[in-house]
Amino acid sequence: MPAKTKKQATDAVLRQHAEQQFAHELEELAKADTRQRPPNWKLSPWAVATYLLGGTLENGFEVSPKYIGNRRLMEIAIATLTTDRALLLYGVPGTAKSWVSEHLAAAITGDSTLLIQGTAGTSEEAIRYGWNYAQLLAKGPSPAAVVPSPLMNAMELGKIARVEELTRIPAEVQDTLITVLSEKALPIPELGTEVQGNQGFNVIATANNRDKGVNDLSSALKRRFNTVILPVPGTAAEEVNIVQQRVASLGKALDLPPEAPALEEIRRVVTIFRELRNGATEDGKTKLKSPSSTLSPAEAISVVNSGVALAVHFGDGALQASDMMAGLVGAVVKDPVQDQVVWKEYLETVVKEREGWKDLYRASREVL
Ligand SMILES: Nc1ncnc2c1ncn2[C@@H]1O[C@H](COP(=O)(O)OP(=O)(O)OP(=O)(O)O)[C@@H](O)[C@H]1O
Ligand SMILES: [Mg+2]
Repeated sequence: MPAKTKKQATDAVLRQHAEQQFAHELEELAKADTRQRPPNWKLSPWAVATYLLGGTLENGFEVSPKYIGNRRLMEIAIATLTTDRALLLYGVPGTAKSWVSEHLAAAITGDSTLLIQGTAGTSEEAIRYGWNYAQLLAKGPSPAAVVPSPLMNAMELGKIARVEELTRIPAEVQDTLITVLSEKALPIPELGTEVQGNQGFNVIATANNRDKGVNDLSSALKRRFNTVILPVPGTAAEEVNIVQQRVASLGKALDLPPEAPALEEIRRVVTIFRELRNGATEDGKTKLKSPSSTLSPAEAISVVNSGVALAVHFGDGALQASDMMAGLVGAVVKDPVQDQVVWKEYLETVVKEREGWKDLYRASREVL
């Protein structure tokens, strides 16, 4: 693993893993945590929940919230990982499935990097193990020639393996997971041995139901998972809060000047997204068509974030309607024909008429 052998200045990496970025919080939590920890867990379930949802420790230390939303869902997710069932985070795109999966792994085992990215091309070897062919040809099958998958590593280390986009993996390859999840063992028939999962081993998978080309889980596999559905934010205030927090911390990571991202603009983006998603204006008076795009919090975050970058580098530093418009159109209009019609109609019937939104309407004329 070159990244580990060559010591890298972690300050310079573009995106730190959760356990690096929040190392200080994890350390403080471990110190304050007197509750019982499941075998091989770095924190108790209570402390993991505090890490995810934020809170103040007895010594006054503030833990920042990572997931904003229903506390119970996170408790169910964490409790699942203490049992022999694996966890499936399910929902529409951009609802923090990968985000939560990374933070859970970081808090529970201190390592969120044992990751298998599911694609249509994911093979059984990517899930089980592969071979180092030079070794294999020179010496035949031997333990030294086995190239373990992240799943196999997680089993040996008693850690959590993450499988991203499980439903993109071809159904017959997905089923490789069944033995691992029910027997907690991974056979290596070529060597006549197996790797047994150590205490602490479990799997967190994520999947969304919207993308094209998804393969349903077989019922045998489904039974090995507890499913937690991550919803889109229930209220506008919650959604504004999510966007605001993430924009602030992304801005810090990208070294954008600490110009406070204008709350008003975030409110407007969130309002537009929610109205289009729900197919009606917030006062319920006007019915709207919904575009084909999902318009998740993740997209709202990136609209505001690109707006901030424009404002900082090409504007006066304060986020304006015109800075957000390009990103907004890009997020809403995914299908150039249908979505364009939906967006135009929204501009004419809602944006143009709404008090205080004239600047937004004008900005939209520049982009179209
Ligand atoms: N409820 C939430 N609390 C905190 N952050 C959130 C929430 N919802 C979305 N986000 C933010 O949205 C961003 C995208 O989330 P993520 O990539 O985890 O989505 P996803 O559900 O895995 O989507 P996909 O199905 O496309 O993979 C993250 O930066 C995350 O911080
Ligand atoms: Mg994801």
